[in-house]
Amino acid sequence: MKKVFFGLLVLALSAIVLAACGGGSSATAIATVPADYAGAVSPLGADAATAGAEVFKTNCESCHGPQGHGDGPAGAALDPTPKNLPELAAQVGDDFLYWRINTGKEGTAMVAWKGVLTDEQIWQAVAYIRTLK
Ligand code: HEC
Repeated sequence: MKKVFFGLLVLALSAIVLAACGGGSSATAIATVPADYAGAVSPLGADAATAGAEVFKTNCESCHGPQGHGDGPAGAALDPTPKNLPELAAQVGDDFLYWRINTGKEGTAMVAWKGVLTDEQIWQAVAYIRTLK
């Protein structure tokens, strides 16, 4: 009986470890946008990306790189290093980007920009990320 229990425990633990590692694949699982942010839509017009370029250059480029490829000089030494933003953007909605920029990403150097940038600037950054390739 004890042995069976131990076996189950090991199974359960390996399942947790596997899940945490994304099943061993190199692509990390995309997080779910919390209810507070899910479905958020930009109130800005089509020209938001122009202002977003300035926001990005000033606040994000040092880590994320000029094209958001995660190759900024300040990003190289980080663990994890900043991700490729255009690659991520192709897989997520604006609400995801808006959420991450607002609240940051726990366990990484990505800080919360809410209160540092205005809501408008955060949406502008989202619009700019959408233009990156
Ligand atoms: C100090 C360096 C640094 C700065 C400055 C920075 N970031 Fe990040 N950012 C990171 C790191 C590190 C991650 C986490 C990457 C990962 O988890 O793979 C990240 C993650 C992100 C993500 C989400 C990635 C994901 O996997 O969910 C977005 C979107 C993002 N940053 C946008 C921005 C924007 C926009 C700015 C400027 C307002 C900015 N970042 C400024 C380092 C930085």
